[in-house]
Amino acid sequence: MRRLATLLILVMMLASCGDTSFESVVKTSAGTITVSPSDASGAAIWQGRCAACHGAAGEGNKALGAPALTQLSADYIERQLNHFATGVRGAQGSDEAGKRMALSVANLNDREIPDLVELITTELQPTQPAATVSGDAERGKDYYTNICSACHATNAQGNDVLGAPALAGANDWYLKSSYEGYLEGIRGAHPDDFYGAQMARLAPALSNGDDINDVIAFIATLPPQR
Ligand code: HEC
Ligand code: HEC
Repeated sequence: MRRLATLLILVMMLASCGDTSFESVVKTSAGTITVSPSDASGAAIWQGRCAACHGAAGEGNKALGAPALTQLSADYIERQLNHFATGVRGAQGSDEAGKRMALSVANLNDREIPDLVELITTELQPTQPAATVSGDAERGKDYYTNICSACHATNAQGNDVLGAPALAGANDWYLKSSYEGYLEGIRGAHPDDFYGAQMARLAPALSNGDDINDVIAFIATLPPQR
C-alpha cells in the first residue's frame, strides 16, 4: 500500500512537471510569443499528462489501475473524459481509481480533449493484453453470447450506437474492477450518466464472482479490433 502511495505521488509529480514544460517561448521575426498548454499537440499532451499512468503506447498499467485505451472508440473516450471532468464519473466516495483519473483530466480544455481523442484512436495501436484473471472461457462464452453480446457485439468490439465500449483488448483486471464498480454503485449511479445507468441495470445478471471471471476469461481470448 505504501509503495503504491509513493508511486502515485511520483506519478502526480511527473504529471505536474508535464504541465509547465508545455509552456515554451518561441522567438519569431515579429517578436517573442509564449506557447500555452492549449497550443500543444495531442502527442505532447499525451506524453505530459497521460502516458505516466496509461503507458507510452496506451497499453495500461496494472499497478496504477490505469487501463489500456487503444481498443476504445472516439465517441466512448470523449464521453468518459467529459464525465471525469464534470464529476459524472470518478466522484463517488469510494472510487479511488476514478478520482485519480478525474484529477488528471481536470485541467484539460475543450480543444485538448478532441486532440487527445484523435491521437489515441489513430496513433496508438491496440494490442492483446496479458491474461491475469483465470476462469472457464468456454462457460464464459455462453454467458457472453446470451447476456453481453446484444450491446457489446459478438466479438466484443463494442457498439457506438448503444454506447457500449469495446471489451476485447481491455485489460482483464480492469474489466473485473469496472464490472464490480457497476455492481457496487460506484459507476453508473450519477443521474447524468445515461449509458452508465444501462450497464449498471444489467450488471446484476452476473453477480457471482466465478461467473464474472468466466466471462472475462472468454473476452480475453478475443483479439482487439478497431
Ligand atoms: C494518475 C494516473 C492517471 C493519469 C495521469 C491519467 N489517467 Fe486515465 N485513468 C486512470 C485510472 C486509474 C483509470 C481507471 C478509473 C476506473 O477504474 O474507473 C483511468 C481511466 C481512464 C479512461 C476510461 C477508460 C475506460 O475504459 O472507461 C480514459 C478514457 C482515460 N483514463 C484517459 C486518460 C487520458 C486521455 C489522460 C491524460 C489526459 C489520462 N487518462 C491520465 C489513471 C490516470
Ligand atoms: C443493455 C446493453 C448492455 C449489456 C447487455 C451489457 N452492457 Fe456492458 N456496457 C454497456 C454500456 C452502454 C456501457 C458504457 C457505460 C458508460 O458509458 O459508462 C458498458 C460498459 C461496460 C464495461 C466498462 C468498460 C470500460 O471500458 O470501462 C464493462 C466491463 C462491461 N460493460 C461489461 C459487460 C459484460 C461482461 C456484460 C455481460 C454480462 C455486459 N457488459 C452487458 C451496455 C451493456
